[in-house]
Amino acid sequence: MRFPLFIANWKMHKDPLEAVRYAATFGRDAVSLSGFADLAVAPQSLALVPLKEALEGFPVALAAQNCGPAESGAFTGENSPKTLKDLGVRYVLLGHSERRWVFGETDEGIALRLKAALSAGLTPVLCIGEKLQERKENRTFEALEKQLKALDGLDLSRLVLAYEPVWAIGTGETASPAQAQEVHFWLRTELGRRFAGAGSLRILYGGSAKVENAASLMAQPDVDGLLVGGASLDPNGFAELVRHGVGSTT
Ligand code: PGA
Repeated sequence: MRFPLFIANWKMHKDPLEAVRYAATFGRDAVSLSGFADLAVAPQSLALVPLKEALEGFPVALAAQNCGPAESGAFTGENSPKTLKDLGVRYVLLGHSERRWVFGETDEGIALRLKAALSAGLTPVLCIGEKLQERKENRTFEALEKQLKALDGLDLSRLVLAYEPVWAIGTGETASPAQAQEVHFWLRTELGRRFAGAGSLRILYGGSAKVENAASLMAQPDVDGLLVGGASLDPNGFAELVRHGVGSTT
C-alpha cells in the first residue's frame, strides 16, 4: 500500500565534485532499485545544482536539508523553498534533530518552514524524535506529541514523516525494530485523528540505519522507509542498504 522511500542525508559532507561522482555510481544501482522503492539524496545546498545535472535520467530525487520559512524575504542564510522547487528539488527535510538541538530551531519556526515548503510545492519530510532522557523517563510520546503540533492546520496529504530518536542519530545505536514499530504505529494512529490519509502516509525511520538492520526495520508493518546519514555516504553501501531494506536480490 505504501511504496518505500529511502533518503540519503549527507549532512555537511561531500562537496559538489564528490556529489557528482556519487551520482554516477549510485544512479546505475538506482535503475534496478527504483522498482522497489523511491530514492532521494539530500546534499548540502551548494551541491544541489551539480547533483541535479549528474542525476539526469536516473530515478533518484533531490532533497534539500532545510528551507526558509517564506517564499522570499529578509531571511539571511536561508534557502527559498520556491527556488529549491524551481531547481528541481522534490523533498525537504525539516526539523532534523541537528537543526533543533545544534541550531536551536523551535516547533513554531519549523511550522513556518513546513507551511512555506508545502505552498512552494515541495514534499516536506518532518523529522521528529525524543532525546535519551525523555525515553528513560517514559516521556517519548509526550515529546513527539509536542513536535507534531507543527502540523496543526496544514494539509498533510503530501507529508512524509521521519521518526529519528535523537539518541540513535550518528551514535551507532539503533532503535530495535520493535521500538521503531511501536512509535510508528503510535504516530500513524495520532495522525489518523488529524486527517483521513494517515493510512497512506509514509513514516521513515532514521538513526544509525545500516545494511545490518535495514531488513529487520523494514519488516515492521509501519516502517515505510529509511532516512540514512552515515551509511549513505558510500554509494555502493547505500545501494546495498536499500537492497536489504526492500529484500531485493537484483
Ligand atoms: P545516521 O543519521 O544514519 O548517521 O544516524 C541519520 C540522520 O541524521 O538523518
